Amino acid sequence: MPVITEIEDLKRLYKRRVPKMFYDYTESGSWTEQTFRENSSDFDLIRLRQRVAVDMDGRTTASTMAGHDVSMPVALAPVGMTGMQHADGEILAAQAAEAFGVPYTLSTMSICSIEDVAEHTSRPFWFQLYVMRDQDYLERVIQRAKDAGCSALVLTLDLQILGQRHKDLKNGLSAPPKLTMGTVADLSWRWAWGMGMLRTKRRAFGNIVGHVKGVENAGSLMAWTAEQFDPRLDWEKVRKIKEMWGGNLILKGILDAEDARRAADVGCDAIIVSNHGGRQLDGALSSIRVLPDIVEAVGDRVEIHLDSGIRSGQDVLKALAMGARGVHVGRAYIYGLGAMGKSGVTRALEIIHRELDISMALCGYRDVKDLDRTALLTGPEFDRYRTRSEVSPATG
Ligand SMILES: Cc1cc2nc3c(=O)[nH]c(=O)nc-3n(C[C@H](O)[C@H](O)[C@H](O)COP(=O)(O)O)c2cc1C
Repeated sequence: MPVITEIEDLKRLYKRRVPKMFYDYTESGSWTEQTFRENSSDFDLIRLRQRVAVDMDGRTTASTMAGHDVSMPVALAPVGMTGMQHADGEILAAQAAEAFGVPYTLSTMSICSIEDVAEHTSRPFWFQLYVMRDQDYLERVIQRAKDAGCSALVLTLDLQILGQRHKDLKNGLSAPPKLTMGTVADLSWRWAWGMGMLRTKRRAFGNIVGHVKGVENAGSLMAWTAEQFDPRLDWEKVRKIKEMWGGNLILKGILDAEDARRAADVGCDAIIVSNHGGRQLDGALSSIRVLPDIVEAVGDRVEIHLDSGIRSGQDVLKALAMGARGVHVGRAYIYGLGAMGKSGVTRALEIIHRELDISMALCGYRDVKDLDRTALLTGPEFDRYRTRSEVSPATG
């Protein structure tokens, strides 16, 4: 077993163990992948301010995210088809998050169902909602999340229409994979993955199959999903969903100061500054680059989280110091899951925690909640883009 010291080690193992179709599904962004790349490379433009002779004893990374106690302010982001990265993937990731004391968010497009994850965990998790055209389905899935005791609804706003990822089209991505010459050849040497999949009964979209009339198999499911993302989603609908849910609400996919103001007007518990990990609008700015504008616009009105591009505890520190209350990680824990199952997710969290703790100490902080801009050094290269904060025709 190789020595694993960083998230990149998990990614290398993940690449070897999981079928190419699912590795590519994770490791890609839309179109030219510029935003996907910049989500990570923009973190490199921010430097840390080292301080010395500061008492580093008794440090803590404990905090809160949207009113929930967390051992560190890092939640697991919703990732569709996690159960294709490793058999029973959503259950394993939720259990690892629970043991670590951080929130787990289950995607609408998960393989394991809401009820199944609830049955295999003992603390509430968060549920991510994609707004579908089918109103009956929408109402029922919200009720199912309530019945399962989910403690927050993460409403994704940046996927009314699907961004194009070339690799998924070329690979013929599906769950479960269609058996072609290419996929059979690829699967034949990922035997551990295949054995896991043969042992489990969870191989299709668990929140959908059996819950929508006429959707019983992969073919009908793909057809239903393709036409279901609701292009009419607007702020009025967001308000209605807030009422239907009636609990803790987190709005995901905000990348603009004006949209952040509108989200704050809705009265949500937190917003997630996110570009969906570079999977939607290619050419959009990285999340970390727009964070300062959004903090300036609504930092005193709503709790701000960030995702997209976090691969280390140092990235977490930078986002927190820029004004985020917490961050969400997607790929970083999926690499761990695909590499080593549940223990891989735990390893990813341990790596991020250790890096955050040590970096925080060397910057002269003992409490993660005290981090602020004075921990960072940025130059003109980082501050180069400014978003216009006045109302633009598109939003007015
Ligand atoms: C493979 C994959 C699938 C995803 N599926 C969903 C999803 O079902 N719902 C959602 O709101 N976001 C989804 N996302 C976006 C993540 O929640 C999150 O915004 C993103 O992964 C953050 O970027 P990072 O991967 O660089 O950490 C997905 C991301 C990836 C990589």
